[in-house]
Amino acid sequence: MRVTVLGAGYVGVTSAAVLAHLGHQVTCIESDPTRLERWRGGEDPLEEPGLAELLRDVHLRFVENPRELSLADVVVVAVGTPMGHNGTPDLSQLEAATDEIRRFARERAVVLMRSTVPVGTCDRLQNASLADQYVVSNPEFLREGHALEDAFHPSRIIAGGPEEARGVVEELYRPITRSRMGQKGNGHPAATPFLWMSARSAELAKYAANGFLATKLSFVNEIANLAQSVDADASAVLESMGFDPRIGAQHLRPGLGWGGSCFPKDTRALQAIADGVGYDFVVLRAAIEQNTRQLCRFAEAIEKDVPRASTVALLGLAFKAGTPDTRESPALALVRRLTHGGLHVSAYDPAVDALPADLGVRLRATAVEACAGADAIVVATEWPEFAEMDLVALRRAARGDLLFDGREVISPAKATAAGFRYYGISGLRRDPEARPAQASYPLRSRVDGALVDGTLVGLRPNREPAGSGP
Ligand code: UGA
Repeated sequence: MRVTVLGAGYVGVTSAAVLAHLGHQVTCIESDPTRLERWRGGEDPLEEPGLAELLRDVHLRFVENPRELSLADVVVVAVGTPMGHNGTPDLSQLEAATDEIRRFARERAVVLMRSTVPVGTCDRLQNASLADQYVVSNPEFLREGHALEDAFHPSRIIAGGPEEARGVVEELYRPITRSRMGQKGNGHPAATPFLWMSARSAELAKYAANGFLATKLSFVNEIANLAQSVDADASAVLESMGFDPRIGAQHLRPGLGWGGSCFPKDTRALQAIADGVGYDFVVLRAAIEQNTRQLCRFAEAIEKDVPRASTVALLGLAFKAGTPDTRESPALALVRRLTHGGLHVSAYDPAVDALPADLGVRLRATAVEACAGADAIVVATEWPEFAEMDLVALRRAARGDLLFDGREVISPAKATAAGFRYYGISGLRRDPEARPAQASYPLRSRVDGALVDGTLVGLRPNREPAGSGP
């Protein structure tokens, strides 16, 4: 099939590369000349693991001219829909893409909407500017850093729109749904489910999935906070939950809140959808609010122990490990909060090499450099390499002995052995032999507007004796 993809972001190029690998003739249209040149030069500006290698293996054209749309049987829309006013997505890129499709795409071409758009968008386009094409909602479920894995082995393919387009969409994905390359099984390969529904249902299905995962994480963070306050071991509690297949073991890691270009935007968009029809989505509202509190709670713990005008070394700036992406990163929100409160920040991230100028942060080339002379160290992204850091070298470089681990990636016992006072985000302990600290922490938090009240509960120093761990 001839496929033209509009938008060379991580969803667009991943979809394009995978469809090319499946045997389709694929062209990618990108209007940003800098990005276009980098793709054409065989570079992956997004640093998505495996993507540059796959691009070398497949035949994929990158062009600027929207007239290419006239050749397509299938047009894939993968433009950005960033957060706009009042939580509703900014659809300006989508409107521009729609205009090009209207002008150049052939009649009865299938327009696959991969971008995350408000419920009713596909119907609206179908009934107006794209009346000559078939508009199908086909949401993506690709995680940054795992986009190829998720595209080749999707848990499901969801699509919805006019019945006339169904056969084309089934055909497009048939190599995945039929060849059983789809689901990674445990010895029992199963075909990837292809779920056909209305466009509105498919659009809502995307928001529902991200909204649910974000809510799950907010709940996980609450359990971790509560566990600490009642002297339970959050890691044991959360691990036990993961064994229940109805809950699932993924997205159970507590942290300083969820971020990125999807969860914050999509939860707010889902809330706006509910608000728009007068429905009070109370659970989602609470999840969003909890996410703000989670970050505040961690920041307050730092501010309580680190005097104003001190220097904090921040390790991790990306919104999660495995990506250089800092969009809606909790780490950057933390920087803003700490610098606003009078602290200086020097930072290191294994993948981030540039920061917004207004952030006022000194970016260093290594963790040790970032920690040199710092009064406290804060871990803000769950990079696995942080677990392997030479903590003795960090302790030697730093002036102070406080280590705040917002992602629980560092072994408390190792940190203590290296001479740090370790603060985890919860009572979570990664060392099997480590015991939860024995102390009584009465629950004092109360709801007061959007913030937790007063003195912070939880977030205490690790009390394990030095050298008790590996
Ligand atoms: C998310 C979804 O997971 C994808 O299925 C979806 O397709 C994508 O959004 C999208 O809408 O395009 P992504 O934003 O790449 O993918 O990141 P996740 O891996 O889901 O992580 C989101 C946030 O949750 C990160 O800040 C991460 O650090 C945090 N997180 C994740 C935790 O705090 N704990 C966990 O256990 C997992």
